[in-house]
Formats: sequence, structure tokens, C-alpha cells
Amino acid sequence: MNVVPDVIPVAQPVLGPEEEAAVVEVLRSGYLSLGPRVPAFEEAFAGRLGATCASAVSSGTAGLHLALRAVGVTDGDEVVTSPFSFVASANVALFERARPVFADIDPVTLTLDPDAAAAAITERTTAILPVHIFGWPADLAGLRRHGLPLVEDACEALGAVHPDGTPVGATGDPAVFAFYANKQMTTGEGGLVTMGDPDMKVRIDSERNQGRAPDMDWLDHDRLGFNYRLSDIACAIGLAQLDRLDDMLAGRARVAAAYRQALAGIEGLTLPCEDHGGAKRGWFVFVVQLPHGVDRDATIRALRERGIQSKPYLPAIHLMSFYRERFGHREGEFPVCEDVAARSVALPFFPRMTEGQVARVGGGVARSPGRMRACRASRSRRTLSSSS
Ligand SMILES: Cc1ncc(COP(=O)(O)O)c(C=O)c1O
Repeated sequence: MNVVPDVIPVAQPVLGPEEEAAVVEVLRSGYLSLGPRVPAFEEAFAGRLGATCASAVSSGTAGLHLALRAVGVTDGDEVVTSPFSFVASANVALFERARPVFADIDPVTLTLDPDAAAAAITERTTAILPVHIFGWPADLAGLRRHGLPLVEDACEALGAVHPDGTPVGATGDPAVFAFYANKQMTTGEGGLVTMGDPDMKVRIDSERNQGRAPDMDWLDHDRLGFNYRLSDIACAIGLAQLDRLDDMLAGRARVAAAYRQALAGIEGLTLPCEDHGGAKRGWFVFVVQLPHGVDRDATIRALRERGIQSKPYLPAIHLMSFYRERFGHREGEFPVCEDVAARSVALPFFPRMTEGQVARVGGGVARSPGRMRACRASRSRRTLSSSS
């Protein structure tokens, strides 16, 4: 009889009695929405990063949409952004009838290449939307040269630090975080915009709440708005998660270090770039690029047979059917992005992953089909201390 090994999931949130108690407290208070947990969460989050202010919203996508509106993106504009991202960072420009204009990425950091971005700018460009992909801080100094507003997609980058030591989210540009359950911290679903301009917060707070100014009566609206509110239940979970964020980030960093050891000997495998130039990754996913010529689908199937979940992550946005059909994008436009996107696999990665699980994944990757060979494998059995 075949023994099916325990499945190692690709992601797993850390939740405990603190989150449960926080939710119960809100339920008993009767204030489920537009209550005190919302500003409490916003202030705690902004305070942690050293940002001037923050607005909690219903998702990262909602935050990106409102941030683009807040910097003035409108009908007919162009927004220069990365094709190597989750599709939402491009879609939000379309929400405003603006056009996402892609530029290729840097092959090491996988973030928007400032020179490629410069070449994509036209007189219709009104903003640049860099994505801190896989938690690596995009080169904001290089992108700032053009004098255009920046909207930072920091949905994957909580805990990341720019080369000058500024935490991602604290530069003053609107930066958008996301709290889906696989993220560095979760509120179930949710997002948050940090920014340096309190007037921008007034606008975002109004537009997330159907266009209602704070001093206006119920059902009185002075601008177009949306329902992008985050509930008090979600914000209460967020506050509890902030209390354990240091431990969760440290847990992710420990797992990443263990992966580096476990995968170091596999010929041709590209690992996430190490921290360099003063910049620091906020660990979100552990994505490897398979060697050229290795069959990714077969690799993912072989891992699944060993009880290891993994995902092709991320596909190139411009090659998705909707973007091909709408804008006529084709292979070959962004060669770095396309090469990386075709070879990337997200391995299981979460704060309480044990070193035994990391070793199992490492062994699975080394033994997967194709021409990958393990030159050496880390066999350490030390269990990562659970972090929170
Ligand atoms: C890079 C990036 N941008 C935007 C988003 C959208 O966030 P949400 O799913 O909360 O709308 C995500 C979330 O997965 C993301 O990873």
C-alpha cells in the first residue's frame, strides 16, 4: 500500500487565540463596521512603518485603485508598470479607463527596470506603478528621476526596506499593502494604503466609503465613491496580527535561510536574490527559477505526488488572454519577464514551516524530472523554532 505523505501546503497563516478573542470582542461590541478598530488599525500600521498616515480598504486591489485616482490618473492616461506581477496591479489602470504600459524587469531583482520604464514614458504617462514583487523593494530612486507620481504596489512587501534604510511604505508616496491569507499578515481579505499627505487620506477615506466626507450626514455624498471599506472585524484581526508580525517575519526569514542551504547544490536553479546594496527583502514567497530546459509542469506534478504543493508563479500579465486580445500583446515584447515567468515556481513557504519540511521540499526539487541534479543536499534535521 502506498503511504501518502502529509501534504505541505504552499502557504499557511499563523492565527491563534488572540485573533479569536479580538473577533469575539468586536462581535460583542456591536460595532462591526465604521467603528473604532478601523482608525486603531490604521494608526498602529502607519506607526510601525513610520508612515504619516494610512487608510484601511477592502483589498490590495481596492487600495491600488484609490491610490491611482488620488495621484490623478484618469481617462486616456498611461501608467507605466511591470508585466511581472499579480494581474491586479495592471487592471487598476483600466478601472479608470487609463492604459497600463508595460516595461521589462531587472533580471536579478525582478522589479521594474528604470531604463525600460524611461523608454516606455510618453506625454500621456501620468504615473508609474512599481511592484515590490516577492517582497523585493523596486528601485524607486531610479524611477523618481522622471518626476512622475509613483504608486507603490507593496502588496507583497511588508517588512521590506529600501537601500537608504526607509521601510517600504514610508517614503511618502502612496504604497499599497494586501492582507489575503497567504501574505506576511492577514485580515482574511483586506488592504491598506500608507501615504505622506493627509489630504490624500481624506480623499481615499471618502472614496472608500461611497464618496462621503467625514463631516457629512448619512447618505450625503459629494463625490463618486465605492464600497471599499474594511470591517472592524477584519481590522481587529489586523491589530492582533501586527502584535505577532515581528515573529512571523522572523519565521519567514529563517525558512528562507533554510531553503538557501537545502537548494544550494542544485545545478542551474536560480534562487531569490540575496539582500544587497542596503535593500532588504520582506519575505513573502520563496520562488525559484528552474533551469532552462526543465519541464515545469512535470516538476510541479512530481512535487504533488510527494505531497508538496507548488505553483507556477507568476505568469506574465501581457501574455494573459485578456491582455493579448485587448492590446495585441505577443511573446517577445518583454524577454526578461517572459523568461523568468516561464521558469518560476513558488515553493511552500510560511512562518511555521519546519526544517524537516524544507528538507523534504529540497529533496523533492532535486529529484524532480529534467536535468536537475542535487550536487549536495542539506540533511539537517533541526526543527525551526516556531516563531509565535
Ligand atoms: C503584487 C500584488 N498586487 C496586488 C495584489 C492584490 O491584492 P488583493 O488580492 O488583496 O486585492 C496582490 C495580491 O495577491 C499582489 O500580490
